[in-house]
Amino acid sequence: MKIVMGSDHAGVVLKDHLAEHLREAGHEVVDVGTHGTSSVDYPTYGETAARMVAAGDADRAVLVCGTGQGIGMAANKVPGIRCAIVSEPFSAKLSREHNDANALAIGARVVGEGVAEDIVDTWIATEFLGGRHGRRVSMLDDIDAGRHAN
Ligand code: RB5
Repeated sequence: MKIVMGSDHAGVVLKDHLAEHLREAGHEVVDVGTHGTSSVDYPTYGETAARMVAAGDADRAVLVCGTGQGIGMAANKVPGIRCAIVSEPFSAKLSREHNDANALAIGARVVGEGVAEDIVDTWIATEFLGGRHGRRVSMLDDIDAGRHAN
């Protein structure tokens, strides 16, 4: 799988750790930064990574900031992106099964490396269930397109 990764300064250490973890698992990782601990703005990296997924230039995005909240919110502003902001594997699994999440945001100040690895591994391995969940995801697309979903 081709995975684009992005973080701000608060998430860079965990992002780099997860990038290595995903490469070791055989995935292609594109790292759009940040690449150091100098203070940067999370919307830059959330948007850049999300636009790559929306354009079909990556299959999924994995994002990290201090809480996961800001970078996940930035990603969710990009049409076609369904970014799950999670701090445990159960929500990661359900975000794939029910919501077909194509982006994942994690908080480096919220979870440690081991839990983050479990979250990412679960999220990557879990398939979308489709069916009634597909109808609901289509309704999210309606909202993206400026239409009422019902
Ligand atoms: C940076 O201090 C922090 O605000 C950011 O990493 C993130 O937690 C925002 O949602």
